[in-house]
Amino acid sequence: MRRKLAAGNWKMNGLAAQIEVLNDLTSRHPTPAVDVMICPPATLVGAAAAATAGKPLMIGGQDCHTAGSGAHTGDISAAMLADAGAGAVILGHSERREDHGEDDALVAAKTTTVQGAGLIAVVCVGETLAQREGGETLDVIKAQLTGSIPADAAADTLVVAYEPVWAIGTGKIPTLTEIAEVHDFIRAELTGRFGADFADKIRLLYGGSVKPTNAEEIFAVSNVDGALVGGASLKAEDFSGIITAL
Ligand code: G3P
Repeated sequence: MRRKLAAGNWKMNGLAAQIEVLNDLTSRHPTPAVDVMICPPATLVGAAAAATAGKPLMIGGQDCHTAGSGAHTGDISAAMLADAGAGAVILGHSERREDHGEDDALVAAKTTTVQGAGLIAVVCVGETLAQREGGETLDVIKAQLTGSIPADAAADTLVVAYEPVWAIGTGKIPTLTEIAEVHDFIRAELTGRFGADFADKIRLLYGGSVKPTNAEEIFAVSNVDGALVGGASLKAEDFSGIITAL
C-alpha cells in the first residue's frame, strides 16, 4: 500500500523565524499516520533539517540544477541539498516552468540527477486554464508525464504531483470528478509506460488551493495519495489540519 504524503511547498517565503512552524508541526504530530514533508526555500534547508533531525518530517528542496557542481552561479545541486539534509526535491513546478522557462526535457534531466543523488523527485504536472477550457487537459498531462519522467526513472524515489495551474493560490479547485479523472489517467499512463508494479508504487499528490476545509474530500478521491500544499503549509495550524485529514 502507498503511504499517504502531506507535502508543503513554502515557495519564496520564510525567514529564519519560519523554522518555528516546523517545531510546532513536529510537536503536534510526533507520530503521524502519514509521511510529512516541507520544502522551504534553499536558504532554510539546513536549518530546517537540523530542527527536524530524528523527527518524522522530511525536508525537501524546491528545485536544483542538473549538474553535481560547477560554474553555475546562483544554482544549487541535488548533492548540496542532500548534504544540507534534504530528502526530496520538487521538480517542474509550474512556477519554475513559467518563471524560468523550464521544459519537460530539463525536468526529466533534473529527475535523473535527483534520483541519482538518492533523493525523492516530486515531479509536477498540470494544465493552464486555457488548456482546460480548450479540452486539452489529458493531452497536456500525458505530454508532461512522458517528457518529464525519464524512461529509466526509479519507482522508489518518484512522486508525481498534479497541480492545475489555475488552481494554484486562487482558492479555486477542480471538481472532485475532474481530480479523479486526471489522477486515474496519470495512474493509467504510468501503468502503460512502466507496468503496474512500478505505477502502483507512485504516490500521486493533488496540489492547488488545498486547505484544511477541503482536504478531506480531496483525499477521498480515487488515486489521490496526498497533497502538495502551498499557502496552507506556511502556518502550523493549517498544515496540521491537512495532515490530520489525510
Ligand atoms: O506546490 C504547491 C502549490 O503550487 C499550491 O499552492 O497555495 O494553491 O496551495 P497553493
